[in-house]
Amino acid sequence: MKFIDALKEHLTEDELKHVNKSFEVLGDIAIIDIPEELENKKILIAKTLKDLNKHINIILRKTGDITGTYRVGTYETLIGDRTETICKENGCRFKVDPTKTYFSSKMGYERQRITDTIKDKENILCLFAGIGPYPINIAKTKDVNITAIEINPESVDFFKDNIKLNKVEGKINIILGDITDELPKIKKTFDRVLMPAPKDAENFIKEALEKVKIGGIINIYGFKTQEKLKEYPTEITEKCKEFGYEIEIIMSRDCGNMGPYCYRVVCDFKVLSGP
Ligand SMILES: C[S@@+](CC[C@H](N)C(=O)[O-])C[C@H]1O[C@@H](n2cnc3c(N)ncnc32)[C@H](O)[C@@H]1O
Repeated sequence: MKFIDALKEHLTEDELKHVNKSFEVLGDIAIIDIPEELENKKILIAKTLKDLNKHINIILRKTGDITGTYRVGTYETLIGDRTETICKENGCRFKVDPTKTYFSSKMGYERQRITDTIKDKENILCLFAGIGPYPINIAKTKDVNITAIEINPESVDFFKDNIKLNKVEGKINIILGDITDELPKIKKTFDRVLMPAPKDAENFIKEALEKVKIGGIINIYGFKTQEKLKEYPTEITEKCKEFGYEIEIIMSRDCGNMGPYCYRVVCDFKVLSGP
């Protein structure tokens, strides 16, 4: 039975109009958005969702948007007594806690796509690394050397645990700190720079360009409205030109919508020459 059909037994027609049918699943946690109009029905809605999904043990209600430098949302626990879980993705396992760190279960396909483009022996720099989903997906199947930078200490703790959980020790070096402070301390250049942070990545293009070898690749993410999606590669090309770099766009695509008018977009490009 569908979630909305099950709710028809408990809610009035008017109440049903306020129900958000979609929910995100992280391991055995379901995250739902319940508007204020349904405040007195929130536990009933949560129980209905749990009864329909036998693998779900915890129900969290979204109470605030993903905000701040750490990109973490706020949640109210409706069912359950923990907020930590294990998510499976492309043969990897990730320990996550959405109340402490950022993680999206919707990016598994994109992470596999990136992993498939990577060659053995690549030296990779991952900025905005979070709990490590990009580095770990890559290190799980490729013989690579990855340097990862992340500012949230709790994300770094999860990242360290996830390296052990996925048995990729020795392939990833994590730096806890702000990219602005940490990048100048790194003297070498890389075959590839990953920038998986749609909100902030564009502000760090110059820093990424300075850390990639000529002939190397950058994978950058951004947010765009549907009308502006196609302009993203041109915008990136222009920004790189401003800093004296010539690039070649390899590909660009949207990686799913974040709301009615906002899309997450990725652009892969090769650096051809620098200043
Ligand atoms: C949208 S999350 C993406 C995390 C991860 N790449 C993923 O896909 O799950 C952005 C991450 O960048 C980190 N971050 C933001 N600003 C940073 C900075 N200046 N230096 C290092 N990390 C930063 C945040 O703490 C957060 O974990």
